Amino acid sequence: MEIPTLQAVTVEILVDNFFDVFEPSRPGIVERVIPGRLKKPLLAAHGLAYLVTLNHRGKLSRILMDAANAPLPLFNNLEALEHDVDEIDAVVLSHGHPDHYGGLFEFLGKRTGGPIPVYLHKEVFLPKILITPRGRIGPWVLELDQLVAAGVELYENQGPQLVLDQALLTGTVETTTDYEKPLPSFRRKVAGQEEQDLFPDEQALVAVVEGRGLVVIGGCSHPGIVNMVKYAQKLTGVQKVSLIMGGFHLTPGGDELIKHTIQGLKELDPELIMAGHCTGFRALTKLAVAFPDNFMVSCVGTKVMVVGG
Ligand SMILES: [Fe+2]
Ligand SMILES: [Fe+2]
Repeated sequence: MEIPTLQAVTVEILVDNFFDVFEPSRPGIVERVIPGRLKKPLLAAHGLAYLVTLNHRGKLSRILMDAANAPLPLFNNLEALEHDVDEIDAVVLSHGHPDHYGGLFEFLGKRTGGPIPVYLHKEVFLPKILITPRGRIGPWVLELDQLVAAGVELYENQGPQLVLDQALLTGTVETTTDYEKPLPSFRRKVAGQEEQDLFPDEQALVAVVEGRGLVVIGGCSHPGIVNMVKYAQKLTGVQKVSLIMGGFHLTPGGDELIKHTIQGLKELDPELIMAGHCTGFRALTKLAVAFPDNFMVSCVGTKVMVVGG
């Protein structure tokens, strides 16, 4: 599938699970915030929101990918990082879990001006359930009616979908690895019947940067981050991988999954891996050991820049 080659992609982490003042910057690649210089303190929370800026021949498009777990961290951090809701051109939802859409309706309500394009998979609206050692949680439902009532320009997809004609949403991820299996603790309801959630609704946001290759951004990466990157390679025909980022949801899958995923990521040979959110501390530590030179923990306020050339 043909997608435009961009001059640069910047991802600013608006909401994520982590903040660590000692995580280093890398000049021109990763810029961490200096807390004392912020307008107000940043909040870390179990949720995800990225501000993705695409540069196509100097024209900038800003995408909000996911909307955190609640309005509080989203609006606090937008203000701390001096962003306005009206500077955002489109919204992308990675999948239908509430830690990714908890601030969505409040975000839409605060905007002024015309309808904003919202891109999501058709199946994000199905009720989601989680089985935990402490019992069942959910169902959570993202209401389609509420989204329609918010007056958005809705783009529902199942297969690959262009976002603002510049980036690609993968649609349902084709799974090709034998070690990335959805966990049985995730459930959903289809026509009133409960079943294991295989996450057909989860998709990666993919961009191609001139001379650098793929940028692949996942939400929770429930279908497996290696599957997601391989599918992005297949869809775009671009093999070189510049940046892989997102929550990787690895620790709950156990040490074998972590080991195989690290091997899979090594074979993909990205320039930088930036993981956070639901990756889990144990998996983050193993990734840090496995990739001493090109792994970083994603923290709120961090800006990752992939510049072509
Ligand atoms: Fe998540
Ligand atoms: Fe999730």
